[in-house]
Amino acid sequence: MSVKKRDPLTGHETTGHEWDGITELNTRVPRIVWFFVAVTHIWALVYWVLMPSWPLINTYWKGLLNYDQAIVVEDKVAKAYRTLDEWRAPLSELSAEEIREIPELMAHVDRTAPTLFGDNCAACHGTDLAGAPGYPSLVDDAWLWGGDSETIMETLRVGINAPHPETRYAQMLAFGRDGLLSRPQIRTVVDYVQSLSGIERDLPAGRLEEGATIFAENCASCHGENALGIQDMGAPNLTDEAWVYGGDDATMFKTIHDGRQGWMPAWENRLTDADRMMLTLYIQSRGAEGQP
Ligand code: HEC
Ligand code: HEC
Repeated sequence: MSVKKRDPLTGHETTGHEWDGITELNTRVPRIVWFFVAVTHIWALVYWVLMPSWPLINTYWKGLLNYDQAIVVEDKVAKAYRTLDEWRAPLSELSAEEIREIPELMAHVDRTAPTLFGDNCAACHGTDLAGAPGYPSLVDDAWLWGGDSETIMETLRVGINAPHPETRYAQMLAFGRDGLLSRPQIRTVVDYVQSLSGIERDLPAGRLEEGATIFAENCASCHGENALGIQDMGAPNLTDEAWVYGGDDATMFKTIHDGRQGWMPAWENRLTDADRMMLTLYIQSRGAEGQP
């Protein structure tokens, strides 16, 4: 048992331990520390009572305040959707022309549409909307089905050759493979079609006339008598510079020999009306900017 000793300098008791003449003061725990210990304990106790805390056998103590973070998050998400719907709602109710008149709405569209296009459409039509062989450009003046907002909305809704009951249906027949035209006849009609878009070549006399006859008998029903295309059939204009597949000899021969049937998904069940309207507005505004 150690005898209580006091430190002569401070008057404090020492612990009685001594190392080489150095003794340890037996000071009290400062009050402030006791104070914080007490306060934090009381705080913990109050928190246990008010908030969800202790596990019970089948459930847990829900706390007198009945606070639940899951509900708080649900509320926040619901609120976010409400604000989202607030500016989205007019997009599914107004026409494209009306929406264009509302700058606040168009600001939303300009912010949202590029991402929407990037996520859903760019893989086929390109991030610049200019398309690629087999995938039409959406920013030129050449339209398979039509470039007014109602037509674009409908194209997006039902798709092209898509598994949608009302899909747009387009088929360029396989004239060579199905034996409707011989290879020389195909070459002749290729020369004729190329002459329509201003490609001048030295051709044997009578070749264009022959091609015109083949065209009138086989092609005009879909592409129109003047080859300007028929949008109701998705049959492109063959006299302009714009090509889905290509206007060179080999590509055009392949198109006429093997046929073509472009496929574009129907977006009715994948994108909302508002989303499709945003994409339509985006395509039209990019086209109006005169993108290549
Ligand atoms: C899987 C590839 C693919 C995807 C993805 C795709 N498209 Fe298409 N789209 C096509 C093809 C192919 C055509 C042309 C079909 C044809 O040759 O008749 C087309 C045609 C169109 C047309 C009609 C153009 C005209 O000249 O009338 C529009 C408008 C269009 N797409 C917009 C979109 C938008 C907007 C998206 C995104 C929501 C999209 N496409 C996603 C492949 C795709
Ligand atoms: C049954 C209707 C139909 C007939 C008949 C038809 N076409 Fe087509 N043609 C189409 C459609 C539809 C397309 C677009 C196909 C697609 O993009 O999927 C097309 C596409 C083409 C293209 C590709 C254009 C491009 O932009 O690359 C060429 C070239 C063409 N047709 C030439 C002809 C010629 C020449 C004939 C006659 C020998 C002919 N077509 C007869 C419907 C027809």
